[in-house]
Amino acid sequence: MAEDNKKIILTGDRPTGKLHLGHYVGSLKRRVELQNSGEYDEINILIADDQALTDNADNPQKIRDNMIEVALDYLSVGIDPAKSTICVQSGIPALHALTFYYSNLVSTARLSRNPTVKSEIQMRGFDNEGLPAGFFTYPISQSADITAFKATTVPAGEDQEPMIEQCREIVRKFNSTYGDVLVEPKILLPESKTMLRLPGIDGKAKMSKSLGNGIFLSDDEKTVKTKVMSMYTDPTHVNVADPGHVEGNMVFTYLDAFSHQEQFSEYLPEYSCLDEMKEHYAKGGLGDVKCKKFLIKVLEDMLSPIRKERAKWEAQIPEVYDILLSGTRDAVEKTNETLEEVREKMKIDYFKDRSIIADWEKWIQK
Ligand code: TRP
Repeated sequence: MAEDNKKIILTGDRPTGKLHLGHYVGSLKRRVELQNSGEYDEINILIADDQALTDNADNPQKIRDNMIEVALDYLSVGIDPAKSTICVQSGIPALHALTFYYSNLVSTARLSRNPTVKSEIQMRGFDNEGLPAGFFTYPISQSADITAFKATTVPAGEDQEPMIEQCREIVRKFNSTYGDVLVEPKILLPESKTMLRLPGIDGKAKMSKSLGNGIFLSDDEKTVKTKVMSMYTDPTHVNVADPGHVEGNMVFTYLDAFSHQEQFSEYLPEYSCLDEMKEHYAKGGLGDVKCKKFLIKVLEDMLSPIRKERAKWEAQIPEVYDILLSGTRDAVEKTNETLEEVREKMKIDYFKDRSIIADWEKWIQK
């Protein structure tokens, strides 16, 4: 139950790779704003290593390699361990227990209708024989993550909507079957369209490590430059004088997502704003290189403080480790409380007290 109407956030990432600009606009930036808004009583950020294993069972080293990496990404964008709990899924046993209990409340037919999982199955090329049960059922485990913390709010991308809906169904089923314990969460979507799904630098799809079309928060200045210079723009814009297309042009998509008004007067004073620049590009007479150079400055304004902060944390990895350790301990405590309430409602709390003995005595007297 939302006993005291606390506002609790739970969100997370699979540690399968370094985080990139898509993660930054889609979630990290928002998390930092939410953290600093003071509007929430609790913020929990879960590094979902167990979930990552559901389709990486044969590659645990990859997950291990990315634990510290993802923690560094969090810390370098401004997640503050004094305000947000960063914790590691595999270190929180209550999540496993809850997953197992919730599995009985969800049908396999319902799971197979989850559109996000469906498309992930397709993308990974799993056929029926190759589909791991753990991957198929990970929305149940994600529901355990969310409910164990009694999260009211899950900031996430639109691809997570089916997970939250599944979670809400589990909460309703649990509460009506066993009694009110769990809290129905709400998703908190990113504010704008570009933020929902930042395309990769190739303009083809959502930015992703596996597609090799990303700019990473940990990329150095030179790498960012090279990537922007190779960015997909408008293939019909051959000569500077040609009219160009702004739609589907990654340079403008990224400027939409990242540029600020003041950056024009500072770096590109011939335009007062992005619309004016777009207009010129569309009409013809504005070259790609000039646009790209501006975008590099815009990105650097954002990335260089992140890079500095990362360097600071990279010099103190034992502290990063301790942050994960203490966050995970906090999470164990919180989630064990929920698990205890769940077990009590499910009447499987035999060893909490000896009352099952009295139950038995009443039972045989009947
Ligand atoms: N499924 C999420 C992703 O792939 C990661 C995740 C795991 C998560 N548990 C969560 C997100 C709980 C929100 C809430 O990015």
